[in-house]
Amino acid sequence: MNEPKPLAVITGASSGIGAVFARMLAARGYDLGLVARREDRLRQVADELGSRFHTQCTVLKADLTLASDLLAVEDFVAAAANLRLLVNNAGFGTLERFSEATVDSQDAMHRVHVMATMRLTHAALRNFGAAKEGAIINVSSVAAFVPRPGRTSYYATKAWINCFTEGLYLELKNAGSLVRVQALCPGFTITEFHDALGINRDFISQGWWMPAETVVKASLEGLGKAKLFVVPGWRYKLVVSLVRMLPRGVLHAALTKGPASLRG
Ligand SMILES: NC(=O)c1ccc[n+]([C@@H]2O[C@H](COP(=O)([O-])OP(=O)(O)OC[C@H]3O[C@@H](n4cnc5c(N)ncnc54)[C@H](OP(=O)(O)O)[C@@H]3O)[C@@H](O)[C@H]2O)c1
Repeated sequence: MNEPKPLAVITGASSGIGAVFARMLAARGYDLGLVARREDRLRQVADELGSRFHTQCTVLKADLTLASDLLAVEDFVAAAANLRLLVNNAGFGTLERFSEATVDSQDAMHRVHVMATMRLTHAALRNFGAAKEGAIINVSSVAAFVPRPGRTSYYATKAWINCFTEGLYLELKNAGSLVRVQALCPGFTITEFHDALGINRDFISQGWWMPAETVVKASLEGLGKAKLFVVPGWRYKLVVSLVRMLPRGVLHAALTKGPASLRG
């Protein structure tokens, strides 16, 4: 009998970076678990990959802000016999200041970025178990490296993803585990993310925008090299290294007295 293909579960696979992960992983011989709320879009991805690569796709319609939906995905991740990769990618932005936003919108963001990432990571590690092999990619952002007034929860939840992934990386290393973990930190990427916020992409020059394919390619190359943090694109690598060197006081001055767009 043929060996089953390795399985990758991808959250937020109905568009953008998640859909590109699905396409690139299918091309590399993975079967897929596709998670998001828009079932029709997941089925389109599944049909396309079924005919192009004979990929077996399990469509998991789930709203990750709902505990019951998250639990169903967790059960799938924990039990799938051929699970080799989990991509925690689902996410969204909001535009209001924290103090002016509804608490429910901020709560929803924490559920998707933090709670779903934490619970699905735990389920995947239980699955990898004694074999201690497998990989987890947590999609963060360059936003993780700074605070940002006006986008407080987005930047804070992405900082949590980086800190969580780094802690786990060290924990797994100490335990002699072969499981690889990565925090993928893209900058501006051409997806539906900004469309959903009603933001025109002209607000920043073209050179800063990356195709989602560039981001996913960098992530998968980074995974091959067991890189913990992957920041795609030279511009963003430069920005991140400069920001990391900046004294907090200078950063705070820029974020309080700087351009209105940064002050939020
Ligand atoms: N685009 C950028 O510039 C950029 C930069 C840095 C980091 N990122 C990160 O990249 C990740 C993917 O975003 P993207 O740029 O590819 O944007 P996107 O095209 O809008 O994709 C977001 C995905 O997340 C899913 N999602 C959102 N809320 C969900 C929920 N409650 N339950 C389940 N799924 C949910 C969406 O699916 P449904 O709507 O069908 O549920 C969609 O598949 C996010 O974590 C984002 O923070 C993006």
